[in-house]
Amino acid sequence: MPSSIFRPDLLAGQVALVTGGGTGIGAAIARELGELGATVVIASRRAENIEPAAAGLSELLGRTVYGALVDIRDRDRVNALIAEVLDAHGRLDILVNNGGGQFMAPAETISPNGFDKVVANNLTGTWNMTRAAADAWMLQHGGRIINITMLTGRGFPGMAHSVSARAGVEAMTRGLGVEWAPRGIRVNCIAPGYIASSGLKRYPPSLGILEALPSRVPLKRLGRREEIAWMVAYLASPAGDYITGQTLTIAGGSDLWGDLWPVPDPPDLGPAVPEEDPWER
Ligand SMILES: NC(=O)c1ccc[n+]([C@@H]2O[C@H](COP(=O)([O-])OP(=O)(O)OC[C@H]3O[C@@H](n4cnc5c(N)ncnc54)[C@H](OP(=O)(O)O)[C@@H]3O)[C@@H](O)[C@H]2O)c1
Repeated sequence: MPSSIFRPDLLAGQVALVTGGGTGIGAAIARELGELGATVVIASRRAENIEPAAAGLSELLGRTVYGALVDIRDRDRVNALIAEVLDAHGRLDILVNNGGGQFMAPAETISPNGFDKVVANNLTGTWNMTRAAADAWMLQHGGRIINITMLTGRGFPGMAHSVSARAGVEAMTRGLGVEWAPRGIRVNCIAPGYIASSGLKRYPPSLGILEALPSRVPLKRLGRREEIAWMVAYLASPAGDYITGQTLTIAGGSDLWGDLWPVPDPPDLGPAVPEEDPWER
C-alpha cells in the first residue's frame, strides 16, 4: 500500500530501526517508513509482539520487515542489536525511539522501584539506543533520531514518573541537536497527545478516562497512529533537513487546554475578591 501523504520512494535505500515497532504507534511508524521504501527493523522485548507484527507488516508492504528482540534498558543487548542491524543491512539512517510506557498512578503511590523503572525505560533506554546507534554508525555517517515523548509542557498528573523521564528526553534532544549538528545527525522529539493506540489501554477503566478523553481535546477527537507516523516520516525525510533539537507536539490542541485530573475545592472556597490598594480604602 502506498503512503497516503508522501511519495513512495522518499526513503528508498535507507535503513530504519523502530523500537516498540510491534504495537500501536510504533507499528504505524514502521509501516509508514516501509511504505516510503525504507528497510525497516522493529524491535522490542516480547516475541509475541514482534513476530506477528513483522509478518503482518511484511505482507502489507510486500517485502520483509525484520523483527528483533531487545530490552532497551539492557546496554549489552542494545549494542548487539545495532551491530546486527549493521551486519544485516549495512547502514542505519533512521532510529525511532518509540519503545517505552508506564502505568498511570498518583504520585504518592509510586514506589522508589517503580519510579526508577519508568525512568530506566523511558529516559535511560532512549539514551542507550541513541548512543549505540551514534557510536556504531551515525557519528561517522550522519542520521536522524526521532524520540517519541509525551506532553511535558504543563503538569501531567498521574504521570510524575514518566513525564519526568520524557522531559529528560526532550532536554537531551536539545543538547544532542547542537552537539551532533556537525556530525550530520538530526535529533528531534514528537510529543503525542491522546492517540487512539494500545498505550491507552493502560489507563485504569475505573477513572473513565477513555470516555472523557474526546471532549477534553479542542479538536474533539483522539489522534490517529498514522498522524504520529506522518510526522516521523517528515522528520526522517529531507523535508526535515533544517529541523533539529525540537519537540513537535501532535495533540489536537490538548497541550493547551482541558483537564482530566479533578482538583477538589476546599469547603470554604469563596468567590474571587479583587484586592484594593491602601489609598483606595
Ligand atoms: N497512545 C498515546 O496516547 C501516547 C501518548 C503519548 C506518548 N505515547 C508514547 O508513545 C509510545 C508508543 O505508545 P503506544 O500507544 O503505541 O503504546 P504501546 O503499544 O504500549 O507501545 C509501547 C511499545 O514499547 C515497547 N517497549 C516497552 N518497554 C520496552 C523496553 N524496555 N524495551 C523495548 N521495547 C519496549 C513495547 O513492546 P514490548 O512489550 O514487546 O517490549 C511496545 O511495543 C510509548 O512510548 C508511549 O508511552 C503514547
